[in-house]
Amino acid sequence: MLSMLVAVPLALHHLPPPQPLPPRRRPLPQLPASTELLGRRDWLGVGCGVCCALCGGFPASALNALQAPPSPSKQFDAPRNAHRDESFAKMMASGMRQYEQAVAPTKARLFRRLLDKVPRSDAFIVELGMGTFPNAPYYANAPSKAGPRRLDILGIDPNDAMNEYAERAANAAGLAALGHSVRTAHGVGEALPLADGCADAVVCTLTLCSVVDVKRTLQEVRRVLKPNGTFLFLEHVLSETDPSLAKQQVLLTPLQVVSADGCHLDRRTLQQIRAEPFTDVDADYFDLSGFYYLNPTIAGFAIA
Ligand SMILES: C[S@@+](CC[C@H](N)C(=O)[O-])C[C@H]1O[C@@H](n2cnc3c(N)ncnc32)[C@H](O)[C@@H]1O
Repeated sequence: MLSMLVAVPLALHHLPPPQPLPPRRRPLPQLPASTELLGRRDWLGVGCGVCCALCGGFPASALNALQAPPSPSKQFDAPRNAHRDESFAKMMASGMRQYEQAVAPTKARLFRRLLDKVPRSDAFIVELGMGTFPNAPYYANAPSKAGPRRLDILGIDPNDAMNEYAERAANAAGLAALGHSVRTAHGVGEALPLADGCADAVVCTLTLCSVVDVKRTLQEVRRVLKPNGTFLFLEHVLSETDPSLAKQQVLLTPLQVVSADGCHLDRRTLQQIRAEPFTDVDADYFDLSGFYYLNPTIAGFAIA
């Protein structure tokens, strides 16, 4: 059982090791481990310190939207272990390729729909738990006629070690050349460092399994979305179709939490999304194959 669990987070260990990173064109400034303790002056520093992975050369609304996170962000943004963060970031960067291939058709459909919904110019999109930014190619593939011309993407993540991988993904997808802007800021879903009603969309892939408090995170998603704004999600969840798998997911979750940075296998995330006062939820449950405890999946949209 144990060996299966270890295989899950990333049925992925047999994959080739990560390639060395290319020389970075622009060093990313380090953000403070917790922004909660910052005073007003320090917040100017945070605003300036938002990692500018790629600046598209237009006044980005992400910078205006940043603000001190609502208290109690410290409760959810516990001090982190830098070595563990780096290892997890490396594992996510190298170990998720097969999984990403499996969800690619679903993601392509979701992002096409998302980009049809948001404004064509300066749409402000929050990637919640951006991680290594595997979603970067989907922003690049926006159809140029119908889709937005300029996206302002802000990744929020408590693991600062993800930033360099996110930058690499943004570069590989050529987002700057397409006129998009990508930035990252330290933060947690339970206390987003963003103003009310500032975002055209919030994107969340494989993050609601990891946050400490799903309900609070969903409330924060609603708070920062503009009226009618779109929440796109794709998450692995507790099995709805295989009781024996569901039982194993429940049993193995404590171990998974420890070995995969807080990831829970036993969440009924779609039910939790439906329980929040979104105006509409349009989502599917389906089972992937070949990813064991990560097979049960939900994907879709909720509208603020
Ligand atoms: C499994 S990774 C998924 C990353 C990325 N979204 C993807 O699709 O690969 C989970 C991410 O959530 C981040 N995370 C963990 N706790 C969080 C929290 N409370 N709020 C926001 N992000 C969190 C982790 O640092 C990690 O980058």
